[in-house]
Amino acid sequence: LGMRHDLYIGTAVDMAALNDPADPQYRQLVGSQFSSVTAENVMKWESLEPTRGTYNWGPADQLIAYAKQNNQRVRGHVLVWHNQLPGWLTTGVADGSIDTAELRDILRNHITTVVKHFKGKIWQWDVVNEAVSDPWDNPPALHYKGFWAQHLGPGYVADAFRWARAADPNALLFYNDYNIEAFGSGNPADDKTQFVYDMVKRLRATGVPIDGVGSQGHLGTQYGNYDTLQVADALERFGDLGLATAFTEVDVRSQMTPGVQAGDSNEINPRLQASAANYSVLLQACLLSRHCLSFTVWGFTDRHSWIPGWFDNPPEGLATLYDENYQPKRAYQTVKADLIFA
Ligand code: G3I
Repeated sequence: LGMRHDLYIGTAVDMAALNDPADPQYRQLVGSQFSSVTAENVMKWESLEPTRGTYNWGPADQLIAYAKQNNQRVRGHVLVWHNQLPGWLTTGVADGSIDTAELRDILRNHITTVVKHFKGKIWQWDVVNEAVSDPWDNPPALHYKGFWAQHLGPGYVADAFRWARAADPNALLFYNDYNIEAFGSGNPADDKTQFVYDMVKRLRATGVPIDGVGSQGHLGTQYGNYDTLQVADALERFGDLGLATAFTEVDVRSQMTPGVQAGDSNEINPRLQASAANYSVLLQACLLSRHCLSFTVWGFTDRHSWIPGWFDNPPEGLATLYDENYQPKRAYQTVKADLIFA
């Protein structure tokens, strides 16, 4: 992949799979098919600082060394998120032994330490991830959600970008979220893309150092699908604010009909087709928008994908470019053709 040399094509990398001697194809494909990598888990807080004050840099450093060897750029994921926080932090806040002032110091210290450690090696940082609720969340009006907003108030978003910039002035700083692929109803009360747009616009207007918006791109073939121009329009509108954009976590999952085996091509062909079409919509939109810097898939093989473990009732899967045996699927062919003809 990666024929158009100004668009980086990336994948999330599962370090256990990358290091598994029994699974050499995984490593071979990461190294040969992609021009950018993201750590699927090993740069998250619980992984970097499992015990307070003791950093575990090994796996993340290993990914960075691997990327360098293969001439790949690295997306840093993630500095501030409400998931995969270390137990000492969430417990300390819950039992009151960490108060608000200390929590703010801990966050500043985390961002500073991590960004400095990787200084010069990260192309784009996901500074703040998934800070905004979904229209179906409670309370129903869109709002700043999660651990950080709850304990520090929404001002943590601007703080996080300032601290990250101070630690590495050359990394591109991104806000990253899902369900922001297109503008929706036009009703601000249930349009998450509009809420994020207003947020980043305000951040820019007040001089907060934000450089980009990452649109995750977790889609499903059973949902209403987007068209290319609608997605390109959203990218353009972020671009008009002076922001770069990127697709950061693309996958397109399908519901698995009970009893259907993964090898049953009559059953799964329509899903594979629909999955390919959705990949193509996001990729073509990105190719159409000159501010769109990279297109990253969240895993590239159904052998190592977060989908089946997460969406198990009803079971979903088939979300990536290659099947469980590393055979390229329709989505792979479509993505490849889009890049060749771009
Ligand atoms: O590390 C333990 C391991 O020791 C244990 O044996 C194993 C047993 O289940 O669990 C391992 O932890 C798992 C971890 O991934 C590492 O593999 C967690 O249970 C599992 O919940 C965790 O899932 C990750 C998920 O984020 C959790 O928040 C997925 O791999 C990862 O793909 C997913 O990625 C997120 C992005 O960061 C942000 N956007 C959404 C995306 C999908 O949820």
